[in-house]
Amino acid sequence: MTVDVTSSAEASGDRPPVRYSEPTLAARAARVLRDNDTGAVITAAPKLYPHMWSWDAAFISIGLARLDVRRAITELETLFRAQWRNGMVPHIVFTEADAYFPGPDRWGTENAQDGPSNVRTSGICQPPVHAIAVQRVLEIARRSSPNERADAERFVRGIWPKLYAWHRWLVEYRTPGSAGLVAIVHGWESGMDNSPRWDVPYDAVHPGAGLPPYVRKDVRVVGDPSERPTDREYDRYLWLIEEMRRAGYDQRTIVENSSFLVGDVFITALFAVSCDVLVELGKEFGQSGEQLRDLAEWAANARQAVAGSCHSVSGMARDRDLRASRWLDTQTIAGFSPLLCGGAPDDVQLQLLSLLDSDRWCGHPDLLAPVPPSVSPMRPGFNPRQYWRGPQWPVVVWLFGWAFERRGWHERARRMRDGGIRLTDDGSFGEYYQPFTGEPLGSTEQSWTAAVVLDWLCSG
Ligand code: SER
Repeated sequence: MTVDVTSSAEASGDRPPVRYSEPTLAARAARVLRDNDTGAVITAAPKLYPHMWSWDAAFISIGLARLDVRRAITELETLFRAQWRNGMVPHIVFTEADAYFPGPDRWGTENAQDGPSNVRTSGICQPPVHAIAVQRVLEIARRSSPNERADAERFVRGIWPKLYAWHRWLVEYRTPGSAGLVAIVHGWESGMDNSPRWDVPYDAVHPGAGLPPYVRKDVRVVGDPSERPTDREYDRYLWLIEEMRRAGYDQRTIVENSSFLVGDVFITALFAVSCDVLVELGKEFGQSGEQLRDLAEWAANARQAVAGSCHSVSGMARDRDLRASRWLDTQTIAGFSPLLCGGAPDDVQLQLLSLLDSDRWCGHPDLLAPVPPSVSPMRPGFNPRQYWRGPQWPVVVWLFGWAFERRGWHERARRMRDGGIRLTDDGSFGEYYQPFTGEPLGSTEQSWTAAVVLDWLCSG
């Protein structure tokens, strides 16, 4: 039975048979963001992720702007204070918390030549969605008060050169003869840690005898460890960190020698559209013509690379294993990347849209909410409970909805929003969801889930 409730019913474990009304859901989302606020940063999740993550912080700032524009600005400023001297925005900015592994000692970036001073960070990056967040915060501020509008405009002027430096870093260091695809050197950089996208390239990562011992903390926090990546996967994750550490986090050495180097089509699509956004902001705020031209050229190259990756039969975009010089044909949500950034031929785009609507994806009759899972339920290897191997992720739904709106596909954008709210209306703000039952998985009270839900609810 569906019950619309207005009082607390703690949502954890199995999905409770409640659906919150939109105002109550919004109030609960706001509370999650407030509760996860340490003062300096909003942690990605209270127990599992007690630090700041790069793309989490971007989404979190969008939700925060719905509550307090100034606080949203602070969040992004905190992240960019940790930007490396070469332009990289690190994937984790560490707080004092000790409950997460691998922590700052394991990363050992303090002696990295390009690292920031006064703050400890990891040594890899995450998807470049920050320009998107900055623009969204500005839009929200402009609909708020004159003071918030002025704050946001000042903020955009200040952060624009940092965003440009971040994008330049991706081009300078991460497009190594990769036909324009932005390369990653660790699956964590994709944000989709254990997606089957990476199974083949990870098979070539052989943890050496020199891998220092370690104890995972994530599996102790999550009730059911099978929702997380396996130990075998963790050995490889840790080995790649070891390789980078030994290279002193020198990017050129890493890109040349790392056991894992993959052109990531999803990041490339996000990069293209983020460059477009940065051009729009740069034009409005009087940035230099030369930098605007760079960004336009990077966007065009990235878009072309995404279109060029599409499979001739399925139309799905593909990652490229740059170590083995081969396309990776695994079909996942990333295959729809051309829908994010455009640029694919019309027939390919139509093919992708019809595939997305089909019973292999959003139209699967057993889905609780008609939004894309991370892997098609019809693919072999689909696992509805394990991290990026099947569950639905609200932030990914938000990204597709945002891109559809931007492309003028309002009805499709509305379907993503409504489906996203349906997925999350149990009020648990799961990190990810079992697509058939809607059971929240991984962490609950995940900040970025609360943030995108708040944004959906406020933009209805
Ligand atoms: N998502 C990774 C983790 O699970 C880190 O980026 O720890």
